Formats: sequence, structure tokens, C-alpha cells
Amino acid sequence: SRGLGLAIAGGLAGNGAEVAIIARDKNQLERAAERIENCGNGPVSIFSCDLHDIEAIDATFHAILKTVGPIDILVNSAGINLRGPAEDIEFEAWNEVIQINLSAVFRLSQVFCNHRKSVGGGGKIINIGSLMCRASRPTTAPYTASKSGLLGLTKALAVEWAEYKINVNAIGPGYFLTDMTQNLKDDEKFNEWVISNTPLARWGKPEDLVGSVVFLSSSASEFITGQIIYIDGGWFAGV
Ligand code: GCO
Repeated sequence: SRGLGLAIAGGLAGNGAEVAIIARDKNQLERAAERIENCGNGPVSIFSCDLHDIEAIDATFHAILKTVGPIDILVNSAGINLRGPAEDIEFEAWNEVIQINLSAVFRLSQVFCNHRKSVGGGGKIINIGSLMCRASRPTTAPYTASKSGLLGLTKALAVEWAEYKINVNAIGPGYFLTDMTQNLKDDEKFNEWVISNTPLARWGKPEDLVGSVVFLSSSASEFITGQIIYIDGGWFAGV
């Protein structure tokens, strides 16, 4: 309902997908649905679910199936980042980041896989990773662990579910301006560090991700699985 997930949902809708979105906040969901419907491909279904509650995921997924019918594409875009010196991070904070960024992705992917096995015809899972699938920086240990784990999970599910023709891939956004990173961009020193490490010398815009997600959601990527596409302005090319 926000940030990169909202842009991706709008991009998929604009490219012909019927979209259902899950988020915790009902008001945000309603606002997001309006914006996505303006991208023009019919109604958007909204489902309020708190990914802290793993048990609620199954019920939400089945409610979506009842409302919209079979689901072909799962985009796992929920993510949180709680920053601080690793030695000071509260264990609850660690658990929350791992839960939302990794465990909830695993649970949603399990329910999606069982659904696709029952209807047949394969499916597409796209996980929203990060530079931190491969790199790291101080004060982001829980987030980096969760995103590195997410890349591992992407590969593990790709090789295991290939037999069901389910493609599992990820995108790795570089530094993108969202409400999760506005405070970083406002910090002059941090902004300079990002720009100096990004050959294309700008922060990513959410719409920069849409093409890759549409590609990974379509038959054009039929023979691609277990991959990550870094949409990073050249960040990793320069290291
Ligand atoms: C941070 C940022 C990054 C970005 C993104 C980079 O604290 O460094 O939040 O983690 O959000 O993940 O790819």
C-alpha cells in the first residue's frame, strides 16, 4: 500500500494485471487502491492483514482466492528496517525484522505454492530484495540478515519448485526514495555517500522498478529462476 510495493502494484495493473494488495492499515489500503485503479485495469481488491501474525496469512490468502479467483503472481514487497548498533539491537526488534522481511515471505510463498500445485499451470514469485542481499553497512544487521536470507530463500524455492513451473526471482533495489529512506536522503553526508557510490548519480524512483517486475511476472522470463536483478544505478558495477 506504500512505497515500492505500491509502485509495483500500479505498474502491474497498468500492464494488464488484476491486482489484490495486502497491508495492515485499512485507510492506506483504500488510498492505494484508488491510486492503482487510476493506472487503469479494473478494480483492485484490498485485504487488511498484519504480517506479524503468521497465522493470519493463510486466512487472508484464502479470502483473496475467494474474491478474485486463482492467483498467478505473488510479489513479496513488505519490508521494515530497524537501524542501530548491532550490539544494542533489542532481540524483539531483531525478531520483528526477520518476521516481516523473511518469515512472512516464506509463509506467503508456501500458501502460494500449494495453491499453484492445486490449480496447475505454474506461477511467478517476485521477492523485493535490496543491495543488502549482497552488501552491508553498519547499523543495519537485522535488515541485512533478512535480505541476505531472502536471496537464499529465493534460490532455494526456485530450485525446489521448478518442478511445479513456479519461477522464483528477486529484484534488488539500490537506494530508492521512500518513506523508509527519506531520513537518509535528508542527511547530507549520507546522501553524498549514496550519490558517490551510484554511477547513475541519483536515488532510484519507485517507477524504475516496474519494468523488471513486469518482466519477471511475464512469460518473457519463463527460463529465469533463482535470479536477482539489481536495480541499483550501477552500484555493484562500481565496487
Ligand atoms: C539503509 C537503507 C537501505 C535501503 C535499501 C538499499 O539503511 O541503508 O534502508 O537498506 O533501504 O535496502 O538497497
